[in-house]
Amino acid sequence: MSKIKVGIVCGGKSSEHEISCISAGSLLAAIDRDRFDPILIGITPTGKWVLPNPEISLTIDAGVLPAIPEDSPQIVADIEGFSFQGQPLEIDVLFPVLHGPYGEDGTIQGFCEMAGLRYVGSGVLASAVAMDKSFAKPIFHAHGLRVAEGVVLHRRQWEGAGRSVELDRIRELALPLFVKPARSGSSRGTSKVSSYEKLEEAIEFALSFDTKVLIEVGIAGREIECAVLQKKGEAFASPVGQIKILGTHEFYDFDAKYLDGSTELIKPEISEVVESRIQDQAIAAFDALGCEGLARVDFFLSDHGDVIINEINTMPGFTSTSVYPKLWEGAGLSYTNLISALIDEALWRSADVTR
Ligand SMILES: Nc1ncnc2c1ncn2[C@@H]1O[C@H](COP(=O)(O)OP(=O)(O)O)[C@@H](O)[C@H]1O
Ligand SMILES: [Mg+2]
Repeated sequence: MSKIKVGIVCGGKSSEHEISCISAGSLLAAIDRDRFDPILIGITPTGKWVLPNPEISLTIDAGVLPAIPEDSPQIVADIEGFSFQGQPLEIDVLFPVLHGPYGEDGTIQGFCEMAGLRYVGSGVLASAVAMDKSFAKPIFHAHGLRVAEGVVLHRRQWEGAGRSVELDRIRELALPLFVKPARSGSSRGTSKVSSYEKLEEAIEFALSFDTKVLIEVGIAGREIECAVLQKKGEAFASPVGQIKILGTHEFYDFDAKYLDGSTELIKPEISEVVESRIQDQAIAAFDALGCEGLARVDFFLSDHGDVIINEINTMPGFTSTSVYPKLWEGAGLSYTNLISALIDEALWRSADVTR
């Protein structure tokens, strides 16, 4: 039987370019080569589609994050699919390991639909809604899930005459607050605000990542994550994991996530009843947005015992040590078999956009 040709797309224009490259490196190292023939497709930070040199490093070397070189040979990606120097690449399925805008947000999914390419993960709508927390939160709420109280602020409101009105509105929320870009990831642009004097600075910082920001009441409690995987259309929830942050980080920020090894994924000390409530809510959230394939659903378990959904990531960090694969490993599904399951699901589902 001939092998299935899998295009692994990584990099991209978002602030999560480097993390995407690391995920792709892990995927390439672990994919089952008896069944799949992977090909790495890079998107450079400026948005060029390229075939990177297979020798490039996709790991963190001495604190330096990997990136797709701008001068890699370009490929053509259009409605006919992919070609290089006039030859079609004949890809059977795409695995877009892209995080953030221009990847996890429905854009590459839309490209795949138009080009008739099969791909791993959620479709256009779910990807787009999950990416924008200001849209995902009201949908979760409408499906009976609890979300953190907060407000949405657009740059035009902040820069216009209504700034002081906006500040008054925000100051009605109790401290501490979290200020974050509506469509960022990896905690980029996010700050914890413990006094109202620091609010404007935090808003300016978040607005440097996005034109829209969320200001939320901080939830005191634990951060609990659950991995959802679909098999033949049915969604399954993994055992849950707790993010334990060591050291001096005030919250789960970028450095804690990736750089200084200061986070651990632990089994939370919670009852089975609470765990299964979180798992049910993870699937409810997955279905609420119409996700497909995979998603990592992130919750707060407040000190009062309330389960509050924070966000859904439709293409979560995907290195072999990332939370999503680790949660499945805990359930007996190896990283390699997880990759195979995701590709099989992409090939199984209908290619019709109204599926
Ligand atoms: N309302 C909140 N209460 C407490 N912590 C929060 C809140 N919002 C965000 N955080 C902290 O900031 C981190 C990043 O925020 P999140 O909304 O998950 O954005 P990202 O998409 O960048 O991961 C969270 O993992 C958590 O540590
Ligand atoms: Mg998060």
